[in-house]
Amino acid sequence: MNNDIEKVLFSEEDLDRMISRIAAQVDKDYSGSDKKLVLLCILKGSVVFMGELMKKVNVPCEIDFMKVSSYGNETTSSGNVNIILDISRKDLDACDILIVEDIIDSGRTLSYLSKYLLNKGARSVRTCTMLDKPSRRVVDFSADYVGAEIEDLFVVGYGLDYAERYRDLPYIGVLKSEVYA
Ligand code: PRP
Repeated sequence: MNNDIEKVLFSEEDLDRMISRIAAQVDKDYSGSDKKLVLLCILKGSVVFMGELMKKVNVPCEIDFMKVSSYGNETTSSGNVNIILDISRKDLDACDILIVEDIIDSGRTLSYLSKYLLNKGARSVRTCTMLDKPSRRVVDFSADYVGAEIEDLFVVGYGLDYAERYRDLPYIGVLKSEVYA
């Protein structure tokens, strides 16, 4: 285990089971659709989750990417979401978008993106997150597919970073407080 990790919260095996469960739900919900399912990875944190999920989803799908950054503080719900890389498809009205996120914190990013994509013409928008921190919510938002709810812990690995580090860990761990204190 990496020396900066206090404890492993989800092992590779835990994550494999979690993602298999989500993929089975996605298969069930989207089977038989004559529209295009698009798994939309929100960079960068979702990249590992997305890679595993897309391998396990059996219904035909396409993939796409967006990169956003959220600005806001703890006391206001009016945080802005800045689009750094947009989805650019001409066929959005034929697309059932499933946004793939690594974690929901304030809820600003997914709340904003869901509305943004519907306004842009997507046929439908659902959301999927590997981890959810409901205690941190600033805007009212619930994802359609949730891997696991967690306490307000500083988690890294499996795509999740601290100052751009630890994304490559094959598990999700709690970062030692002395690393960020
Ligand atoms: C994280 C995460 C979500 C967002 C969730 O991204 O990947 O996109 O924050 O927070 P919210 O619910 O408060 O909006 P981050 O900005 O850390 O970028 P990264 O994915 O590139 O690490």
